[in-house]
Amino acid sequence: MFLADEIRRLKKERNAVILAHNYQSAEIQELADHVGDSLGLAYRAAETEADVIAFCGVHFMGETAKIVNPGKTVVIPDLDAGCSLSDSCPPEKLAAYLAEHADRNYYVVAYINCSAGVKALSDVICTSGNAVKIVESVPPDRNILFVPDENLGAWVTEQTGRPMTLWKGNCYVHVEFTRQSIEKIRAEYPDAPVVAHPECTQAVRLLADEVCSTEKMVGYCKNSPAGAFIIVTESGMLHRLRREIPDKTFIPGPTDHCACADCRYMKMNTLEKLRDCLRDLSPQILIPEDLRARAEAPIRRMLELSRT
Ligand code: 13P
Ligand code: SF4
Repeated sequence: MFLADEIRRLKKERNAVILAHNYQSAEIQELADHVGDSLGLAYRAAETEADVIAFCGVHFMGETAKIVNPGKTVVIPDLDAGCSLSDSCPPEKLAAYLAEHADRNYYVVAYINCSAGVKALSDVICTSGNAVKIVESVPPDRNILFVPDENLGAWVTEQTGRPMTLWKGNCYVHVEFTRQSIEKIRAEYPDAPVVAHPECTQAVRLLADEVCSTEKMVGYCKNSPAGAFIIVTESGMLHRLRREIPDKTFIPGPTDHCACADCRYMKMNTLEKLRDCLRDLSPQILIPEDLRARAEAPIRRMLELSRT
């Protein structure tokens, strides 16, 4: 039996839903029930009626699905698919920082790209799709500590005017794009708007016509009168855009060394591993209940705030 047919059969047998992030490979996106950004997939995970969630993304995304679905089985194709951004903020370091700066009484806004341990220490979670709205909802008299992405945090401050203390973390993929590499491709395609993810550095964001989450990139490119776009984010996004907007051209933003940028963690997932995790119901995401409950509150706060 073909691998794709086997996955469809197992999905039915397990009453499973397959959620895939926009950075997954083309074959995985084609098989998924829902493809989206972190915010969209967090909603899908919170709303699903399935018994099993197979999350094709990275570890913190599967963990988020489990936090809002403690009664369901959450499997991921590869337990080692982590995230450099999440790794840059270990919970013990955050706890120590908060204790050391207790006088600041920080309101902690955590980008969803973090572990359950960091979520449990936070007041509210945000994604790149709702970060501006979430930060605007923080009581004006509170000092904000934004973790773990200094680039997304700096962009949110530019948008809102709200000063924040920024944790010094970043995404190893998005910081590879440089002013030089984007200026070079822009010179080749002068009519193509540059669309960049807010995890890029300020030097790159300043060159962009639009800075937004991966999901918002789809809407921007659909509604723009332009026929070609330079997409400055992980390469999987190109497949999503080409599939959904087949009449337009999408050019990957290059780095100084490569024609496009791949996230090695996102690309650890394969169809074989997806089949295996559905067949074996392993590897599973398991979280101690007290930690899960503490991590759930700030996610629920985010889901409520971004709905209104
Ligand atoms: P989005 O929420 O925009 O999909 O971003 C997730 C991510 O990991 C970006 O590197
Ligand atoms: Fe993490 Fe960056 Fe990969 Fe996104 S692209 S999962 S932020 S390492």
